[in-house]
Order: sequence, then C-alpha cells, then structure tokens
Amino acid sequence: MSEIPTITLRDGLQLPAIGFGTAGMRGAQGVQAIDSAINQGYRLIDTAYNYENEGTVGAAIRRSPVPRADLFISSKLPGRYHEYGKAVTAIQESLYRAGLDYFDLYLIHWPNPERNQYVDAWRALIDAQKFGLIRSIGVSNFVPEYLDRLEKETGVLPAVNQIELHPHHSQPEQRDYDRAHGIVTEAWSPLGGKGPKTQRIQETLVLRDLAEKYHKSAAQIMLRWEHQLGVLPLPLSHNPGRQAQNLDIFDFSLTPDEVQAVTELDGERQVTGYGDPRTHEEL
Ligand SMILES: NC(=O)c1ccc[n+]([C@@H]2O[C@H](COP(=O)([O-])OP(=O)(O)OC[C@H]3O[C@@H](n4cnc5c(N)ncnc54)[C@H](OP(=O)(O)O)[C@@H]3O)[C@@H](O)[C@H]2O)c1
Repeated sequence: MSEIPTITLRDGLQLPAIGFGTAGMRGAQGVQAIDSAINQGYRLIDTAYNYENEGTVGAAIRRSPVPRADLFISSKLPGRYHEYGKAVTAIQESLYRAGLDYFDLYLIHWPNPERNQYVDAWRALIDAQKFGLIRSIGVSNFVPEYLDRLEKETGVLPAVNQIELHPHHSQPEQRDYDRAHGIVTEAWSPLGGKGPKTQRIQETLVLRDLAEKYHKSAAQIMLRWEHQLGVLPLPLSHNPGRQAQNLDIFDFSLTPDEVQAVTELDGERQVTGYGDPRTHEEL
C-alpha cells in the first residue's frame, strides 16, 4: 500500500490525509475495531464527547504498539457545554475519559446557532490550546457566516472545519470558503453514511464505471475524489478488510473530468438526514 500523504494545517500541524471515524464504536468490540484500524495504518482517529467512546479510543491507543506521538487524536465539544467555563471543564473531562494528556485536534461539534454561544466555546478552545491541552483547534458543521463571526470576534480562524461531504452532498461553496481562508475541510460520512444510503451511492453508475476502470471499489473512488478535492475524509468501518481498502487510495488519480463528474452527482442532494447546521440543534 502507498504511503499516506500529509496535509498541513494553518498552525503548522501535519495530519495524515485520511482518518478513521469511530461513531458508535464502544466497549470491547469498539476497542477491537479501532485497534485493527491502527494496525492497518490509520494514525488520525476521530471521536467526540457525544459518541461516549473517548474511553474506548483511549483503551485502543494503550493497547496499540504505535507510540502516542505518532497518533493524532481528534475529539469534539458538545452543544450543551458551549458556555466558556463549561467548555473548559468538558475539554478536561474528554481528556480524562480518553486517558490522554492532550488532544491533537478538538472541534466544536455543532454551532447550535439558536443558543448563540459558539463564540464563547471558541474562546475556551483558544485558551485550552494556550494551556497545552489541544494542539490544533477547529469546528464542525460551520457555515461561512459563523466562521466570519469567529474571526471578527476573536481574531482566530479554525484550522479545520469537519462537514458532511460525499458525492451526494459535495459542498462546493463551503469548500471554496474554507480553502480561501486556509481552513482544511474534513469530510464526515465520506461514503454517504451508514446503511442503505451508502449502498445507493455506491451503485451510482458514474462511480461503478470509475471503479471498473481503476480496479478499485466505489468506496475507494469516493475517498480518492475527496482527496483530490483537497478534503480529508474520515471513513468508518468495523471490518479489517474494508478498513485496509479505504486506506488504499494513494496509488491512482482521477482525471479532472472524472473529478467533475463525481462532483456533479451532488444534484441529487441526498443528505444523510442530520440536518442543516443553520437549524439543527444537537446538544
Ligand atoms: N461532525 C459530525 O457532526 C459528524 C456526523 C457524522 C459522522 N461524523 C464522523 O464521520 C465518521 C464517518 O461517518 P459515518 O460513520 O456516518 O459514515 P461513512 O464512513 O460514510 O460510512 C460508514 C458505512 O460505510 C460502510 N463501509 C465502510 N467502508 C466501506 C467499503 N470500503 N465498502 C463498502 N462499505 C463500506 C461501513 O460498514 P462496515 O462498518 O460494515 O464496513 C458503514 O456502514 C463517523 O464515524 C464520525 O467519526 C461526524
């Protein structure tokens, strides 16, 4: 398998160009799945306070022979803890749960604009970075006006914006905004999410044809497309074979026309159903 390239964040931290999603992985089976992913070669692991599996991620890290310094662990602040003092405590609690001294990346999970406290939460992340609890700070599910507000009120832009992104929701405007502001876009549900939706996207003719041409799977075509868009995908798989397959995307290239053809699948607008960040409330 080819080596995983890196992506450099605005603050200089270099992340692997693909990471591992862990939502729903808990307990002994979760430890096994994450341990397997690290063995397959994943070094960036995405978790969240609200996944209730920071402990599972921490157990997998301690089980693995890979040194902590070679891993990149990313977690997220829940909406109910946006108020400054609560956010600082939640970051500490995340670290205790994981059994870690620091996170490589920590994100505001959702903006929850109705509550209007995400700038407060952002100040807490900025300070936690200064205290050495977090190496890089970012957000998730943020749209341009919220990012503009963070910059205007704190002078600090996020290093990362993690958003829903797959061929049925290719997010051209948000990608353009992020790129123009030096923010790395990460893709959640990069394969279209769990269940029948993933299957439906994989059966799209454009993806099947490309898979045949490059002797890859439709999932690998999606991940390669995201990589060529400059996006960092976070695929999840419980299966060691699929975990390895999803890393094996760095030995071929789609042509610009092929990248465009996948981007145009966006017309279907078949989002995974989590909702629009402007209205979605997740605490
Ligand atoms: N920031 C946010 O608000 C947010 C929201 C949602 C998700 N996320 C993050 O993004 C990560 C990934 O998103 P996701 O879990 O929703 O979905 P996903 O990675 O797009 O898709 C996962 C599904 O695809 C299947 N799969 C994986 N590799 C495959 C392959 N090579 N061929 C065929 N099927 C394959 C998996 O099944 P098997 O397990 O059986 O392989 C699983 O059912 C999450 O784990 C989480 O870390 C963040």
